[in-house]
Amino acid sequence: MAATAIRFFELNTGAKIPSFGLGTWQSDPGVVADAVTTAIKAGYRHIDCAQIYGNENEIGGALKKLFAEGLVKREELWITSKLWCNNHAPEDVPKALDQTLQDLQLDYLDLYLIHWPVSMKKGSVGFKPENLSQPDIPNTWKAMEGLHDSGKARAIGVSNFSTKKLGDLLAVARVPPAVNQVECHPSWHQQKLHAFCKSKGIHLTGYSPLGSPGIRSIKSDILTNPIVTMLAEKLGKTPAQVALRWGLQMDHSVIPKSTKEARINENFDVFDWSIPEDLFAKFSEIHRQRLIKGTAFVHETLSAYKTIEELWDGEL
Ligand code: A2P
Repeated sequence: MAATAIRFFELNTGAKIPSFGLGTWQSDPGVVADAVTTAIKAGYRHIDCAQIYGNENEIGGALKKLFAEGLVKREELWITSKLWCNNHAPEDVPKALDQTLQDLQLDYLDLYLIHWPVSMKKGSVGFKPENLSQPDIPNTWKAMEGLHDSGKARAIGVSNFSTKKLGDLLAVARVPPAVNQVECHPSWHQQKLHAFCKSKGIHLTGYSPLGSPGIRSIKSDILTNPIVTMLAEKLGKTPAQVALRWGLQMDHSVIPKSTKEARINENFDVFDWSIPEDLFAKFSEIHRQRLIKGTAFVHETLSAYKTIEELWDGEL
C-alpha cells in the first residue's frame, strides 16, 4: 500500500517536485492572484503556469507580495511554466523564457516544459490551422538544454508527448526530459506512457486531474462517476479528493485548478489518508476517455499531424 504522505517525487535532476500543485489553466486574470495566495497560505508549494494561460503577470504580482510579506520564500516554491508553440524556433526559446520570468517576477523556473509537440508560426495568435508549422523538436530541445545549462530553468521537460514522441526525444537529448505533463485522471490512466516514463526515469505530472469539469465541451463526468462517488462515500471524502488521491497513489503529481477558496482547501486534504488496495482496484472499472484531444492541432494539409491518431501516436 502506498505510504500515506506522498509529498514529493524525486526527478532525474535530483530535485524534488511537490506532488501537489495548483493548476492555473482557465484561471482568469482578476481571480488567479487570490487563488495563488489562498493556495500558498493553505500549504501548496507548487504552482503550474504557462505563457498561453495569459495570467503569468498576475501570478507574478501575487508571488511578489507573498515573498515581501514573508509568507513563503522563493526556494520553498516549485514554479513550472511552458513554452508556447509559436516560440519553438531555437532563437525564440530563451526570449520566451525571459518573458515568462519577467511576468512571474522570478529569476529562475524550477521546471520549463515544451507545452505541445506542435509548432506554430512565430508571432501567430490563436488556434487557426494556418498558424501551424512543422515542429522540429530536436532543435527546440537543444535550446531548452541551453536554458537548463544557464540555470534559468533548473529542470526541463515536455507536455502532451506520447510514448513514441518521448522515445524519439530521448534518442537525441543531451539532457533527458525530467517530466512529461499529460492528461491523467481516473478516466485516463496513461498506463503505457507511465510505465515507459518510469523505465526512463521521467516523472509524470497529471493535468486535468478532476477531468476539467468546468469546460462544457469536454463533458467530463469523473466527479459524478458512480465508482468515484461510491469510493468517496465509503472513505468519507469528496469525489475530488478521491480522484486526486488516486493520482498520488499512482505516482503522478497532480495539479488541480480551482479559484474557489473552499475547493482549494478541500483539494489539498489528500495527505493523511489513503485508498486501501481493495477499493483502489475499483478504478480499473471506470470507462476510459481522453478528454483533451488536441483537435485544434490537427489538419489534413496544414499540420504535421493529419489526424488525432498521429498526434497521439495511437494512444487514444
Ligand atoms: P473552480 O475553479 O470554479 O473551483 P481540472 O484541474 O481537472 O482542470 O479541474 C478544474 C475544474 O474543476 C474547474 O472548473 C474547477 O472549478 C473545478 N473544481 C476544482 N476543485 C473542485 C472540487 N473540489 N469540486 C468540484 N469542482 C472542482
